[in-house]
Amino acid sequence: MPFKLNMEFSNKLITWYLQNKRDLPWREESIPYYVWLSEIMLQQTRVDQALPYFYKFIQTFPKLQDLASADENTVLKLWQGLGYYSRARNLHFTAKYVVNELNGEFPNTYKELLKLKGIGDYTAAAISSICFNEPKAVVDGNVYRVLSRYFNIETPVNSSKGIVEFKELAQELISIESPGDYNQAVMELGATVCKPQNPSCEKCVINDGCLALKNNNQKFLPVKENKVKIVTIHLNYIVVVSDDNKLVLEKRNGKGIWKHLYQFPLIESPEEIDEDEFILQPLFISIFKKSEISIQLYNDIPIRHKLTHRNLLTKFWIIKTPNNEHLNTDWQKINEFPVPILIANFLKQFKFD
Ligand code: ADE
Repeated sequence: MPFKLNMEFSNKLITWYLQNKRDLPWREESIPYYVWLSEIMLQQTRVDQALPYFYKFIQTFPKLQDLASADENTVLKLWQGLGYYSRARNLHFTAKYVVNELNGEFPNTYKELLKLKGIGDYTAAAISSICFNEPKAVVDGNVYRVLSRYFNIETPVNSSKGIVEFKELAQELISIESPGDYNQAVMELGATVCKPQNPSCEKCVINDGCLALKNNNQKFLPVKENKVKIVTIHLNYIVVVSDDNKLVLEKRNGKGIWKHLYQFPLIESPEEIDEDEFILQPLFISIFKKSEISIQLYNDIPIRHKLTHRNLLTKFWIIKTPNNEHLNTDWQKINEFPVPILIANFLKQFKFD
């Protein structure tokens, strides 16, 4: 691409950005800890959704050292509702690593940042460009949208070819003088003007060169390959209420997005199950054996919750019992535990009588 065209593209974007950028707390001073935290939160989450979490987080952990000395439950609790909890676990791990192994000094190059757990190409490029002026281009969903439309590129953005092509193009376009502003300008344009649906092309600072606008095919770009098959899973939570107000709560271990969050004992099934099938499940039998119990289904219609690769359909089963050897938690303390948002929503509504 001719050098002059690059300059025009990036200069226009940066000028627009400096005049129109949203006032965001991590943009005030480019403190690496703040930029890192915000970029981790902003993966898969919109700015308006992430903001209250960001404020809560820096209020509780104003400095990297505060995050490093926190316990994991507190971190996960503050993250509750943002989803993708591995982001929070990695954030915590890396804060401890930087404080304990790197003398509290946050790495200041793309290459060193990339070595940290939870920091991939995108985050390393974002932090190194925004905080340390290193010309490394970021590519996120916003960037795919802006570039695919402006240059009318139909290569699927999630194909191996597309990933390489967009990365190279973004790197070619970056401003060497102001890489941080440039990166943020493209993302900001993607988030506020070049939106997925109904983009505001009339307000766009680079609309005169946009090929998608010229061809009126903004709606069809970017192109994505359909790769993942979404499966439906039925979750049946065993919500125990004992006479002395206790329940059974367990910590999720092993792999998965809810690792280290807490939950009621869970029976998963590929099909919906009714009460007759529910009480024959081995987990149910192992908890209640010969206990005296009463069962009540809390919600007749399963609650829907969508994850990236899964549709969850959830039933909460309320089991009352005088006593039980598995009881391990007071109901009064339930809100101290980090739980999946699905359970947090249930807890907001559930009233036991
Ligand atoms: N989305 C993710 N990171 C962003 C940033 N730094 N500015 C605007 N939108 C973003």
